[in-house]
Amino acid sequence: MNWPALRDRLLASPRFHRWVLAIPGLRSIARLQSRRLFDLVAGFSYSQVLLSCVELKLFEKLAAGPRRASELQRELDLNDRSFEVLTRAAVALELLEWRTAPTGEISAKSAADASTVGTSQWLGLGMLGAVVAGNKAITAMVMHHKSVYQDLVDPVALLRDPSKTTQLREYWAYTRESMGEPNQPNQPNPSSTSGTPSPSNQPSAPKAAGTALTLQQVSDYSELMAASQPLVAEQVLAAYDFSKHRCLLDMGGGQGAFLSAVAKAHPQLRLMLFDLPAVVQKARNVLADQGLGGRISFHGGSFFSDPVPTGADLISLVRVLYDHSDERVMTILKSARRALSAQGGWLLLAEPMSGTPGAEAMGDAYFGLYLLAMGKGRARTPQELARLLTQAGFTRVEAIPTRLPLQTGLMRAYAPPG
Ligand SMILES: C[S@@+](CC[C@H](N)C(=O)[O-])C[C@H]1O[C@@H](n2cnc3c(N)ncnc32)[C@H](O)[C@@H]1O
Repeated sequence: MNWPALRDRLLASPRFHRWVLAIPGLRSIARLQSRRLFDLVAGFSYSQVLLSCVELKLFEKLAAGPRRASELQRELDLNDRSFEVLTRAAVALELLEWRTAPTGEISAKSAADASTVGTSQWLGLGMLGAVVAGNKAITAMVMHHKSVYQDLVDPVALLRDPSKTTQLREYWAYTRESMGEPNQPNQPNPSSTSGTPSPSNQPSAPKAAGTALTLQQVSDYSELMAASQPLVAEQVLAAYDFSKHRCLLDMGGGQGAFLSAVAKAHPQLRLMLFDLPAVVQKARNVLADQGLGGRISFHGGSFFSDPVPTGADLISLVRVLYDHSDERVMTILKSARRALSAQGGWLLLAEPMSGTPGAEAMGDAYFGLYLLAMGKGRARTPQELARLLTQAGFTRVEAIPTRLPLQTGLMRAYAPPG
């Protein structure tokens, strides 16, 4: 019996659907399946409701407590119909909640009560809205998705021509720039500076494209990464024990948000940051403002044209590899291994991973399309990353469980001396 073929035939049959819906035990399965399919159709509208709430700062306005709907409507400057559509949609998506009283014990009104939006109604944060209200990282990410939605507005056109100009390519300037970059991992970049261990002295290379990016070109993405980094750092710090290490080098460390979180949790650790020169310039200022400038040595360069500084016994690559092709990932991993080779050391990979149980759609559907629009890279399964790590000369590769694997997958691998 060919079960998949039989299943496909049955699921495509309206008669079968009618039969299933008529049987109480099977009805709930049919309802769940139809809801899942409907959510696929409607997902874009749901995203737009969330975006509208964030853009109109609705969650911020309600963060201190419920407000009278009429007052909110005036502040948002929406007409009756638009305000009703938005608030009802947000309530249905658990972003907002109708409330009965502004203070004291507040109970959610029943769905039936919520069918009218009157001037006496009070609105508060819903279960999901409360999470967004307390989290600047999510707000920044939602706003960033305005560009993502525009790039995905004609998905078939993008699939047919993945090299087409997109907003994400403009935004992530290094993905554009690095396309023409020479692949010479042993040439130092003149802008590389250090307070502690430094790369070996070698003749100057022609300026690699990524290293020529300006502060203006790297600013927006560096800010977004810094805003969303606390979500990741929290996961990594809860899952990995940094106290056994002496010196951490964060490769592609952005403006230093990850190092800043690690520095606060582990005052004994020496810290190094490596990123494109313009990003390092930003990091220097941001970390100096946090009083951490003296604890961190800064190294500007490109992993594709400059040596990675030596001296660390732990190197982290946080949300870096999924931006790049397998070939470029191999270059990055080999540079990291070389930098650890004097005494041996560990590599820590932290990024969303494909095939995460319970979050398969995140890796393959969401990041698949996002990275296609960005022009390069892909989310990889832990097995794929393990294969690349082994090929690059790492041993003892293992996955480390995190509390929120949807957000951060974690792996480590050992670079033996020599
Ligand atoms: C997606 S961001 C992640 C930043 C940071 N690790 C985080 O999680 O917040 C990727 C980082 O890699 C850096 N990067 C990209 N290409 C690079 C290159 N060729 N050499 C060094 N850094 C690079 C970018 O500037 C950026 O800071």
